[in-house]
Amino acid sequence: KILILDFGSQVTQLIARRVREAHVFCEVHPCDVSDDWIRDYAKDGNLKGIILSGSHASIYEETTDKAPQVVFELGIPVLGICYGMQAMAHQLGGKVESGHKREFGHADVRARGHTALLKDIADFTTPEGQGMLTVWMSHGDKVTEMPPGFKIMASTSSCPIAGIADEERRFYGVQFHPEVTHTRQGAAILNRFVLGICGTRPDWVMGDYISEAVEKIRQQVGDEEVILGLSGGVDSSVAAALIHRAIGDQLTCVFVDHGLLRLNEGDMVMEMFVGKLHAKVIRVDAAEQFLGHLAGVSDPEAKRKIIGREFVEVFKAEAARLKAGLDGAYKGAKWLAQGTIYPDVIESGGAKSKKAVSIKSHHNVGGLPEQLGLKLLEPLRELFKDEVRELGVALGLPHDMVYRHPFPGPGLGVRILGEVKKDYADLLRRADAIFIEELRNFKDAETGKTWYDLTSQAFTVFLPVKSVGVMGDGRTYEYVVALRAVQTSDFMTADWAELPYALLKKVSGRIINEVRGINRVTYDVSSKPPATIEWE
Ligand code: XMP
Repeated sequence: KILILDFGSQVTQLIARRVREAHVFCEVHPCDVSDDWIRDYAKDGNLKGIILSGSHASIYEETTDKAPQVVFELGIPVLGICYGMQAMAHQLGGKVESGHKREFGHADVRARGHTALLKDIADFTTPEGQGMLTVWMSHGDKVTEMPPGFKIMASTSSCPIAGIADEERRFYGVQFHPEVTHTRQGAAILNRFVLGICGTRPDWVMGDYISEAVEKIRQQVGDEEVILGLSGGVDSSVAAALIHRAIGDQLTCVFVDHGLLRLNEGDMVMEMFVGKLHAKVIRVDAAEQFLGHLAGVSDPEAKRKIIGREFVEVFKAEAARLKAGLDGAYKGAKWLAQGTIYPDVIESGGAKSKKAVSIKSHHNVGGLPEQLGLKLLEPLRELFKDEVRELGVALGLPHDMVYRHPFPGPGLGVRILGEVKKDYADLLRRADAIFIEELRNFKDAETGKTWYDLTSQAFTVFLPVKSVGVMGDGRTYEYVVALRAVQTSDFMTADWAELPYALLKKVSGRIINEVRGINRVTYDVSSKPPATIEWE
């Protein structure tokens, strides 16, 4: 195993992710664990290496952290990254000075090819035969004097000591960030450290993660009861499946059906969790309540607020009931579980070590654990989206569910423009199901992938305007829908997808023929920005 000591950098979990990608078990712990804790952690003989993460802090600020000194006395390899390297240099007798200039962004680093860490790893070679690495830098302070026993391993013009190595003790430090993808050889460098220098065996798989996580959840929860808000989305579904694997019937899922879900979505969620996994799920059918509150409201923000507020109300009432205890056999819940994943943790600023846990603001049940006096259980907190998906598949969730496009919390409420009405929602659900079905059917000849997989998000929008059409001998006067399909990697910017005409033709033909009440289909050819992905 590899131990990652976290000094509070936002990208610490990326280090863990890279180690997992190398199929090696690792754990992230705060940098201020005690010497004794580390000795104890290492005593089974399985600890093969330690990585010191970066930080936002400067080593000379009084409040900042040092690595436990024992890290350098165990006789195992240590890699310091950015602040981690500075801490290493400082604690082993070198000198760190606060830089007058912050260095942030890409840099080309001269790599001294002789070290075990960087040997034969380079992005390009200069005419003089110098191996060069294109890396990502983000630091203000720098090492100005190496500790005894160290040699320079890498340098740039502005940062002469950008990498240090004491090969005898197998201590390495890099000023740049190998864990981010901007450092092109980053994964190769971390692999070299973890597999080559630490000598770990690449035999860790997602299945192992499950047993580790299950063990952790059991220890944390004991015999207490847990409530989880199940939305049918990837994160809450995977969290539910994982927690259910760990504690079975001690978990109760609350699934709030606000009437703005996709076609058959509620039934599918129940079928999956109750039918297949035999989990306890309480389905709260709150469609009427939601639609009642939405009646007459057409402003997008007002709609969102109402849906969010009602959601919390409904969930809270149910959770309070569960907390109080449903019947004699049920002791009353002590925990609220959430499918918070690592990007949510970063978003909410909770990634810095030792900082209080905060919950992302747009999370539907944010703030609830405090209000309800429940403890928070977040087993996916350290995982990235694609890892969560992989975990979901490993837990036996269907591939289609786990690789679904994102669906906004307010659901169809923001895909029916203006006032939300049940009739509109019913029409939209059927049209949208046809669009999604055809996206899943249509394969791209070149890649062999379906258009569902080739798009990041696709859906149908209901426009509450009528247009004239003709069907058979008759004139029709019916509603319009817009199809939306985008390609994006981060959802901050997005391009409209160039769907094949044959696919659009099929979808349009089917919607107009099969969904009485819609006689016109349009395709949205706006990119984000300036348009957004959703229409409201
Ligand atoms: P926009 O429309 O802002 O959408 O370009 C970007 C991404 O965010 C999703 N989205 C939401 N997700 N609650 C959510 O959970 C919301 O209120 C919400 N609004 C937008 C949208 O579907 C897209 O993936």
